[in-house]
This record gives sequence, structure tokens and C-alpha cells, in this order.
Amino acid sequence: MPTVIFESPDNSSAPVRTEAPNGGALADLCDLIDAPVPFSCRSANCGTCRIHVLEGHELLLDAEDEELDVLDVFAVAPPAQRLACQAQMRSGAGLLRVRAVADNE
Ligand code: FES
Repeated sequence: MPTVIFESPDNSSAPVRTEAPNGGALADLCDLIDAPVPFSCRSANCGTCRIHVLEGHELLLDAEDEELDVLDVFAVAPPAQRLACQAQMRSGAGLLRVRAVADNE
């Protein structure tokens, strides 16, 4: 079962740790635990939900074209960054550690 750790983008709060027993949409998990990840469009249009994947990128399914196009606008790409609104987690063991991209990055 993946363990997911959400770090605060500005280190203003303690990391949020949870389990994702069946994998699934990272956005759903964010909503469930009120993770420190901002969202806007939720449809791979704005890039608001960009996250640094600090550890465990292999626990995420490959990005689809729409996600890659948005990341390209910001001159970033997987595995370093993903869109939290698009990323899908695999089931299985492991540790996924992410941090939302800060406003000043
Ligand atoms: S919320 Fe807009 S791209 Fe994810």
C-alpha cells in the first residue's frame, strides 16, 4: 500500500502523511485529507496543482499528453514534476513524497 507524504510548499506546517491502499487519483487523496496542494481547473489547463515528486515517482502512472503539454509550458517534466489533478497512483507498496510548487518558484 503506498504511503503518501505531502510536504508544505513553504515549510509552514508539518508534512501530512496518509495511506493509499488501492492507488487511484492523487487529487482524490488530496481532497480526502485536505493536503497542502492548490487546485484550480482540475483538467490539465492551468498548472496550479504542479507538485515536485521528491520520492517514489515510480508509484505514479505515466503522464498522459494533456499533462505533459501543461508541464512543458512551465519547462518542467516528469519525473521531477507532475500535475496533482492528473496523476494516478499505482497500488502496491512504496513511499510517494511530494511538495506543491511554491508561488515563487
Ligand atoms: S488544477 Fe489546473 S492543471 Fe491541475
